Amino acid sequence: MADLDNFKVAKNYHLEEPFANQKGFFLKGINSLDWGMKKHMSNIFNKDSGNTVMFAFDHGYFQGSTSGLERLDLLLPKLAPYVDCFMGTRGAIRATLPPEITSAVALRVTSGSSMLQDDLSHEVVAVNIEDAIRMNADCMAVQIFIGSQGQLSSLDNVNRVINDGMKYSIPTMGVCAVGKELERTDKFFKLATRIIAEMGVQMVKTYDCENFEEVVAACPVPIVVAGGKKIPEKEALTLAYSVLQKGAHGVDMGRNIFQSQHPVEMIQAVNKVVHEGFTDKEAYEFYEDLIHR
Ligand code: R5P
Repeated sequence: MADLDNFKVAKNYHLEEPFANQKGFFLKGINSLDWGMKKHMSNIFNKDSGNTVMFAFDHGYFQGSTSGLERLDLLLPKLAPYVDCFMGTRGAIRATLPPEITSAVALRVTSGSSMLQDDLSHEVVAVNIEDAIRMNADCMAVQIFIGSQGQLSSLDNVNRVINDGMKYSIPTMGVCAVGKELERTDKFFKLATRIIAEMGVQMVKTYDCENFEEVVAACPVPIVVAGGKKIPEKEALTLAYSVLQKGAHGVDMGRNIFQSQHPVEMIQAVNKVVHEGFTDKEAYEFYEDLIHR
């Protein structure tokens, strides 16, 4: 008969310890989603800061060659060390973003308008889920036009993308559009961001506004903030600092980086605010130091 007096279990399963991942996830609204979704979200957002520096270069999808984005092949590799997530179209990404770059990818999947039109609110889902999977996209970005003529079709677009994304665990980012005719008030953004979140997106991209902290509080998933039109670097860093203080999980900045005279230095300064807790003043001093070296 076997001697069991000093029998030891081969592995310690730590049965006395509760499941360590039960306590939640570092991003709000994501805890109930599956591993694949969380993995993509962790590719986009930095676990230590909880935030992301997303670089938006999708402007060409309706504007054509945009000032500052003429040569993506030259620009993107220079910015890459400071970009958590590149946001662009499949055409630009495939043609100009080297696949060796490890930053996450936010793939714009809606399009259909151009700046030659007055009403830009009618888009279609142009990229199917199979191509998003082939491109290893970490999220699919869909523009939503609340209050515009294209509201219904854009909500239909986002719901179809979310449904496909749920099948394959690819997050959807709802991009809150602001047309010429739309008011940029907290009333509008509270309405629009909440409608977009309730559709089931995993993150929302929107704009700064008065009482922005209330917009963030009422949105049950992470918000990233677009930079908007080019403003002086100091003001753009203040914008980033201000929205982070009010609860945004990062920025999705385009023109205020690629139209800066010093885009590489500017994105480094944005990084300091988003990931290292620099104030806007400290980040601007850092930027000035870099450009005068
Ligand atoms: C807008 O539809 C585009 O998605 C841009 O990516 C967005 O506006 C962010 O770029 P910017 O910081 O230049 O506003």
